[in-house]
Amino acid sequence: MMDVSSLKKKVENNIMCGIVGYIGTNKATDILLESLELLEYRGYDSAGVAFCSGKNVQVYKCPNRVAVLKELVKEQKEDAHVGIGHTRWATHGSVSYKNSHPHQVGQVTLVHNGIIENYKELIHTYHLEDQLVSSGDSEVACALLNLFYKKDPMEAIIKTLSVIEGTYALVMIFSDRQEEIYAVRKVSPIVVSENETERMLASDVMPLSRISKEYFTLPEQVILKMSKEGIHLYDFEGHEVEKKKERLDWDIEQMNQQGYPYYMEKEIAEQKEVLQRTLLSYVEDSFPCFEREALTEELFEKSKHLVIVACGTSYHAGLYAKNLFEKIAHLKTDVYLASEFIYQEPVMEEDTLVLVISQSGETIDTLEALRHSKEMGYQTLSIVNVKGSSIAKESDYTLYTYAGPEIAVASTKAYTCQLMVLFLLVYRFAYTRNRFTKEEVQQEIEELKKVPYSVEDIYQRKEEFQECAKEFKDEKDLYMIGRGFDYYILLEAALKMKEVSYIHTEAYASGELKHGPIALIEQDTTVIACLTQKDLVSKASSNMKEVRARGAKVIAFMKPSLEKYLEQKISIILLNDLKDDLMVFPAIVAFQLLAYYVACEKGLNVDKPRNLAKVVTVE
Ligand code: G6P
Repeated sequence: MMDVSSLKKKVENNIMCGIVGYIGTNKATDILLESLELLEYRGYDSAGVAFCSGKNVQVYKCPNRVAVLKELVKEQKEDAHVGIGHTRWATHGSVSYKNSHPHQVGQVTLVHNGIIENYKELIHTYHLEDQLVSSGDSEVACALLNLFYKKDPMEAIIKTLSVIEGTYALVMIFSDRQEEIYAVRKVSPIVVSENETERMLASDVMPLSRISKEYFTLPEQVILKMSKEGIHLYDFEGHEVEKKKERLDWDIEQMNQQGYPYYMEKEIAEQKEVLQRTLLSYVEDSFPCFEREALTEELFEKSKHLVIVACGTSYHAGLYAKNLFEKIAHLKTDVYLASEFIYQEPVMEEDTLVLVISQSGETIDTLEALRHSKEMGYQTLSIVNVKGSSIAKESDYTLYTYAGPEIAVASTKAYTCQLMVLFLLVYRFAYTRNRFTKEEVQQEIEELKKVPYSVEDIYQRKEEFQECAKEFKDEKDLYMIGRGFDYYILLEAALKMKEVSYIHTEAYASGELKHGPIALIEQDTTVIACLTQKDLVSKASSNMKEVRARGAKVIAFMKPSLEKYLEQKISIILLNDLKDDLMVFPAIVAFQLLAYYVACEKGLNVDKPRNLAKVVTVE
């Protein structure tokens, strides 16, 4: 048996920021500001840009939204074609003008994503005190580059990297080389794209699609030089490094709000289409097929234990799937929060397959859990939405969800697409493990094909949820109860409600009520029940009676065919009928709509809830 005690090593810290750089025939100001808007979804509290005017490198920044930065930049009259931009999510150092990027020290203008761990020591060693105005680490990298810059950017970068410790995506302009942008990274991502007249780099692929469908990931510890003439990559010995190009299947149109009031609604509405796409991508002859992704029969045969690691909504998909893997495929499955994984000393053996789930593919805790698992010698499989992301690149095998770009912070379509892939994996394992015949798997797939229509039906009834939301908008606390699969659906439903409506919402396994939560129930407390599992109706019904007897108002979201088993008169929202284990799809879409409309009723910023970020690259 292999043990994972060595996983307890310190995990690197990392700052969640968005970076962009542009050189081209278009006006750099417009492109950079548009790009920063496309990176807004990652979460941030300050924004800034730097443009090359030919004479000097002009910096505009503010501890505020991109919309405010846009107003500031209006002053800029010159026609710049080279520039860099940044959105900062403060972790170390307050949200302030001084701490915002770009930083400028002497000849160097820089944006940084990551953390320079030894920055205090470096300030002291290189006597940088007098040159720094910020309280953060990034400006130290800028000052060092300036110190080492003797007209040779490569030399300055290599010297700087030889003394800094930590993680970074550094993008730099040297003031006597205003036609060039340099970049280098370790851990923090940088992706790059070009067409005949434009070159662009960014923290993720969102802004790149306007340039080209082709992009590449900047390899770690390779220096990128971008100019009008082209893009070159060099290793530290000065040898040219090859670009490994990939194709992006998202386009700018998919990133537009397309007339919806919020991205969250657009993404809820897209579920029929993206679920269909995801399903069809992995099905041949009504049978799950992962050949293109190189998942061999041998892998299914030799994996006798599954360890799922994820965060947030992706973790909830993992929890739901554990039940499926165990019940349907008889495959022992454990699920870990990525942030807890290294402390929990999971028992893993040689036949353990580590399955990481991540929409963004960049969540630092999940990425670190993946890296540790690989270091320990386990096979790793990931379910990821963002192509070319770190998790997708670093796992042994990757299955993409075809949800398209998810911009709203609260995950909706990515969750249902993750579940779709997980169902297919469950059936594939069930076949290999002789729990299902090929024909039985094919029947299950036929049932799965009904899912996209079922979720569309719920979306088309959105006004019902809008009405229902009016009743909830003034709630301070909401309790959700359910058993079996319903409990796992509600964990995600409660997260959606918390995230976007700020109502304190907790999901409880109904059977646990008597062990504590029922003490919270008083006259007119609102309890939402989820009832989609036939064999649990009677117990679930008793639990509803228990809370009603203590004065709770109960509203049940239920499968229509189960209504006849209810003896009590309660408010009911009828979902639609699918196989019990597939009810998660219509049920969660109903809860997504409910959370969405409650947030709208309260006039909240649905797509960018306070304090939350889409891509969490801070442990
Ligand atoms: C953040 C997002 C959530 C997401 C979680 C995990 O908290 O706001 O929507 O579920 O990160 O992200 P991942 O990209 O790894 O699925």
